[in-house]
Amino acid sequence: MPDLILAIDQGTTSTRAIVFDQALRPVALKQIALKQSYPQPGWVEHDAEEIWQAALQTCREAVREAGGVERIAAIGLTNQRETVVLWERATGRPLAPAIVWQDRRTAEVCAGLRGQGLEDEVRARTGLLLDPYFSATKAAWLLDRVEGARARAEAGELCLGTIDCWLMFRLTGGARFQTDASNAARTLLMDLERIQWDDRLLELFRVPRATLPEIVDCSGDLGETEPSLLGRAVPIRGSAGDQQAALIGHGGLEPGTVKITYGTGAFLVAETGAPKASSARLLTTLAWRVGGRAAYALEGSIFFAGATIGWLRDGLGLIGASRDSEAAAQGLRDNGGVYLVPGFAGLGAPHWSAEARAAIVGLTPDAGRSNVVRAGLESLAYQTEDLLTAMAADGVVRPKRLKVDGGVTANAFAMQFLADICQVEVERPAFQEMTALGAARLAAMGAGLEVSGPEGEPAEWKPRMGRNERDRLLKGWRAAVRGVLEIAR
Ligand code: G3P
Repeated sequence: MPDLILAIDQGTTSTRAIVFDQALRPVALKQIALKQSYPQPGWVEHDAEEIWQAALQTCREAVREAGGVERIAAIGLTNQRETVVLWERATGRPLAPAIVWQDRRTAEVCAGLRGQGLEDEVRARTGLLLDPYFSATKAAWLLDRVEGARARAEAGELCLGTIDCWLMFRLTGGARFQTDASNAARTLLMDLERIQWDDRLLELFRVPRATLPEIVDCSGDLGETEPSLLGRAVPIRGSAGDQQAALIGHGGLEPGTVKITYGTGAFLVAETGAPKASSARLLTTLAWRVGGRAAYALEGSIFFAGATIGWLRDGLGLIGASRDSEAAAQGLRDNGGVYLVPGFAGLGAPHWSAEARAAIVGLTPDAGRSNVVRAGLESLAYQTEDLLTAMAADGVVRPKRLKVDGGVTANAFAMQFLADICQVEVERPAFQEMTALGAARLAAMGAGLEVSGPEGEPAEWKPRMGRNERDRLLKGWRAAVRGVLEIAR
């Protein structure tokens, strides 16, 4: 009897395949790093074919290590959201590099639409804002710039999709051209309440309906893999965007769950049950849809989190490995008044400034490498606090315990500082692959497979810093952010 679940987690910087048993213990994990291309300032691209090949290779290797394809009961898929791929329907060949969620090339288009006073209408229909982060303006850019694409798109020869849709198409040998509702909700093209492509939005963003996939549930019969890929046809039974999957990993099939995942970016998601409009410039988004029943969430999106530590390591060479940032930060008594505002790809919630750029402020002659590293780590907590404040303004009660996951949560300095600045208890589960775990849960549910777990005691941090000290630090951060926003104006 097949008893294992294969989760595919296609993230911004890597592709992983993890096989889970029914106690949600990982029995095999394979990972391949993904090349990032920055062809012009503000542009970020991925090679869609490389993404597919990495997904296939990691799946094959993980399945082999887990005992063979006969043991795999179902596949669950989860992915970096908003990133857009354009491909040929007949051949499955991508026609251009994928435009990544961090890419700002359509900032002017968004500013133009805002200038026409369209943001409120777009927001009412989609729960989102007019920002280049989302898929629609990237999709139109591809149709306009790839030679002949617009005419071929109108003729139904081309497919536009987010990464879930692209992988689903390739996994099923082109049999399924579909996207799950949690991913569709991030395109700016879907009516959030009806969960359907919206004609007015398609017209506004100039995206022909003929290029768009069918919108499907996050769990259930989502197709089967083409038999030659893994050795037999494996049922695909779950699919969700990575932040929604992480919410489900943390237990978010229940309203009230609040989590933040520190990956390339960081995304605070609070499940609200019914859709809740934000007056604090957060996003209203779909948490999941299963069996036709939908649950909604409020989300605060930070564009640079783990990526800031990556920049300190690779861009500046200030640390040899990400984990060295902890010792560098701990070695200082305080931050010395130095702040790093990581607007490398603009600033997300609650500021939404596509034009903002990063800044390091407050340097004195005695400031050194460690001050900059510490400022980078501290920026995670300050940005999180700004999101929690915005959520509170929207009526979401600040959680007593904040559930965290993602690479940076291995950093004890960053976690203690987070507890101090946000004045909440921080809880990190023993097993930290919440994104893959959520995809596995959705797949198990769709396959009717009983699962339990995962087991293990969470790690926790309690606030220790005095209120005055915390307020003083936050004041410095907010002044630095105001400066960055001012320059961008
Ligand atoms: O919205 C973008 C998000 O889905 C990317 O997540 O984990 O790759 O930073 P991550």
